Amino acid sequence: MTSPKFLIVAIDGGAASGKSSTARALAERFHLLHADTGSYYRALTAELLHRGVKQTDAAAVRAELADLRLGTQIVGHSADIKIHGDKVREADIRSAAVNAAVSHFAALPGVRAALLPYQRGLADEARAGGFRGLVMEGRDIGSVIFPYADLRFFLHADPAERTNRRVREGQADAVAERDRLDSSRENAPFVCPTGAIELDSTHLPLEEVVERLARLITARLLGG
Ligand code: C5P
Repeated sequence: MTSPKFLIVAIDGGAASGKSSTARALAERFHLLHADTGSYYRALTAELLHRGVKQTDAAAVRAELADLRLGTQIVGHSADIKIHGDKVREADIRSAAVNAAVSHFAALPGVRAALLPYQRGLADEARAGGFRGLVMEGRDIGSVIFPYADLRFFLHADPAERTNRRVREGQADAVAERDRLDSSRENAPFVCPTGAIELDSTHLPLEEVVERLARLITARLLGG
């Protein structure tokens, strides 16, 4: 008897496109490990801001990252990043200061290089933890981190609706500006990867987005 297929699902999309809620729901439904890579970029940003490093000083960023020890704590289906053995607090990574700085730090090659092996390594963590697969969401998952993922999704949503979603969550977040910075950077720009399955979530309830992706995952699991 062959062992069940280990599935890698990549979900990319702009800020507040619904990818985190969707990935979380899919992780629970299919017993996948969920990796929210935006939270990893936020954690590094919060740490660098805390150390007083400026986003304009690429050499200082690289020097600070050189001795950074990253780890993972699996909580339910979620792969949470740890820095020097400590879990990162949600309040620290969702602050207005991090919202404003994260895309600038994320554009630096040193920051992306620090997270690339960490993110790829989560597939092994998922296997070791007995998960059926990994669902990873971000901006460059289907294009750079897992271009050979079993399924690659790209979620669109109207910028005005995405801004409203953040306001309803009580967050100050310039989503269009972050998209602009993320799409125009040289290193791993935010793009819809060639061949990704695209879905516009502007007028769809979350449950419907989850159902549509779940149907495709089920088909993939059944079809091999
Ligand atoms: O997903 P979230 O909006 O929390 O991501 C925060 C920021 O992290 C993005 O605006 C982007 O600058 C950066 N990011 C990235 N690559 C990823 C995930 C997030 O550059 N894979």
